[in-house]
Amino acid sequence: MNRVKISTRGPEFSRLIYGTWRLLDTKPTAQEINRRLHACLELGITTLDTAEVYGTYGVEALLGEALVLTPGLRDKFEIVTKAGICFPHAQRHEWQIAHYNATGANLVQSLEKSLRLLRTDRIELFLVHRPDWLTRADDTAAGLHELLRSGKIKSAGVSNYTVSQFDLLNSLMEQPLATNQLEFHLLHHEPMHDGTFHQCEKSGVRPMAWSPLAGGRLFAPENPAAQRLAAAAKKLAGRYSGATLEQLAYAWIMAHPSRPLPVIGTNKLERIQSAAKADEIVMERQDWFTLWEAAQGRRIP
Ligand SMILES: NC(=O)c1ccc[n+]([C@@H]2O[C@H](COP(=O)([O-])OP(=O)(O)OC[C@H]3O[C@@H](n4cnc5c(N)ncnc54)[C@H](OP(=O)(O)O)[C@@H]3O)[C@@H](O)[C@H]2O)c1
Repeated sequence: MNRVKISTRGPEFSRLIYGTWRLLDTKPTAQEINRRLHACLELGITTLDTAEVYGTYGVEALLGEALVLTPGLRDKFEIVTKAGICFPHAQRHEWQIAHYNATGANLVQSLEKSLRLLRTDRIELFLVHRPDWLTRADDTAAGLHELLRSGKIKSAGVSNYTVSQFDLLNSLMEQPLATNQLEFHLLHHEPMHDGTFHQCEKSGVRPMAWSPLAGGRLFAPENPAAQRLAAAAKKLAGRYSGATLEQLAYAWIMAHPSRPLPVIGTNKLERIQSAAKADEIVMERQDWFTLWEAAQGRRIP
């Protein structure tokens, strides 16, 4: 697996990142997750993406449990976590409605909780999960600076930020933002057109691409775009050593000039193994447009 720097001053990551949003869906034990983490390492996938809110605040604790089952395992990974989404749940009765909170104070408090749950003393990359419309950027920046100065986080970034939101926060940062994690896949092309990917390219940061298989919708038999993509992938497979639609979908993302890092979300080991092979695919220009056309159901303008 290739390794890349996410930004000039940011950490080095594996080109594919293992995402943990759905980790609790199959109700796994810590031992099972520990085995999955070892499998990721064998494939060269060393970067884990998580968030305080995942699994209704349950994923980080399970991940922490799984990591400490093998001494030294944590140090073999780079961990990305996020904060700023507040969902009402059993431990936070005062949150009566889902809301965002990217105040510096909330980010610091959340990150400290994440460190305890993940059983670690630092996070390689900490992201503001969603833009918070009610917080001044200098307040958010102050919290990130406090965490950077203390060494509790090695770098900071954002997720789901628009161009102007990224620009504003970045202009206040002592250490430039390391990424913008965005939704990008064959069924969602927005970052190519709304300026966010161009901004990443200009700022020297690689975006992270979430839901690279459209959360599984890429395979929904009732979805006409999925049907067209399945047919197109079948035709292209022979040119890429029998690559599957999944592998071609990851390669399609990685071929964009902003060089996004796909954050894969499957709970199945064989699908993680299959995803890792996508790192070897260099997609030809016309094949990229063939998949674009199949996804859109029309020719380029
Ligand atoms: N920053 C943000 O706001 C944000 C938002 C969403 C996600 N994320 C990150 O991105 C990661 C990935 O997101 P995601 O889970 O939506 O990724 P995804 O890879 O697009 O979707 C994963 C889903 O697709 C299913 N799937 C995979 N291959 C399939 C196939 N061949 N046929 C049918 N279903 C298939 C998986 O089921 P199986 O498990 O059965 O394979 C799983 O339910 C998350 O874990 C999280 O870390 C970030």
